[in-house]
Amino acid sequence: MKPLSRASAPAKIILFGEHFVVYDRPAVVMAIERRAYVTAKPRADNRIIVVKSREMGASGAFTPSGEYQPIEGGLEFEPKFKPIYIITKRILSLSGEETLGLEIEVDSSIPIAAGLGSSAAVAVASASAISSLLEMRLSRDEIFRLAFEAERFVHVNPSGVDPAVSTYGGILLYRRGEGIRRLDVEAEIPIIVGDTGVKRVTGEMVSRVSDLLMRYPTVVESIMDAGENIAKLGVEALKSGDMRTLGELMNMNHALLCALGVSNDMIERLISAARRAGALGAKLTGAGGGGCIIALPEKSNVQGITEAIRNAGGEVFVTAKAFEGVRIEE
Ligand code: PMV
Repeated sequence: MKPLSRASAPAKIILFGEHFVVYDRPAVVMAIERRAYVTAKPRADNRIIVVKSREMGASGAFTPSGEYQPIEGGLEFEPKFKPIYIITKRILSLSGEETLGLEIEVDSSIPIAAGLGSSAAVAVASASAISSLLEMRLSRDEIFRLAFEAERFVHVNPSGVDPAVSTYGGILLYRRGEGIRRLDVEAEIPIIVGDTGVKRVTGEMVSRVSDLLMRYPTVVESIMDAGENIAKLGVEALKSGDMRTLGELMNMNHALLCALGVSNDMIERLISAARRAGALGAKLTGAGGGGCIIALPEKSNVQGITEAIRNAGGEVFVTAKAFEGVRIEE
């Protein structure tokens, strides 16, 4: 066993197909240059799993019976740490080291509960750091599956798109029934991310769409069919580097998400600001109900759009595609 292992995994944005992807429609996702880092170390006291997060200012210990005991912060952090605990237990059991105690420290620059896949990035980086500590050589597919299993525990019916892109990086076409296809995209895809600062729970937004689907099946099915066509055209636009079409398709995808009721005032404010400042396209990204929007700029107007979103009340950062998915740091 190594004395310490550290791994990282990227955040993501969804270019096309959030929510529709839950119902086996395609989504196009891109890893971005913001990463979650996870360090794993053995502990002297056996069977205790301690999880810490610098950003959350919280830590706690899972006892051998699985009970959570807060060290810093309260019990409210248990659901945030639970997926890490599940992954840890699973890997310890796979390696035959069930009695080992571990300390897992998370250090992430990805905003939490904002639609950027922070929990999936942490789960993927955890699986990688812990398995590397134990000198197990897990494949990317195995890391993805471990993180997906843990996500299932905390979200209602997750599609798996978040752990997929955090694991493999780049730009992926993801479909539940078919799995992951990495897209060869040469064009730089500059993206401006605007965070509404409104936190929301992905599962609640997913439930909202499932309610609507139950009440208006024919309408919601045709919205999703349109979403599927947009994603397919989006793949072509990405491959040919046609930014104008990409932007228009993003706008159309956003209109469909509005029809599903997952946008809100603050999202609309940031999107209007970005479009007025000349964005080729703008949409919410992720579950909606708050979280982030993304805007596609032209090189010449990155600064103008950034300022416009900031003036409208959003926290902004400019990013680009991250080629690398999960990686061992040390
Ligand atoms: O967690 P978020 O906000 O990135 O949303 C994930 C995307 C959804 O399609 C809404 C849910 C899912 O599991 O795919």
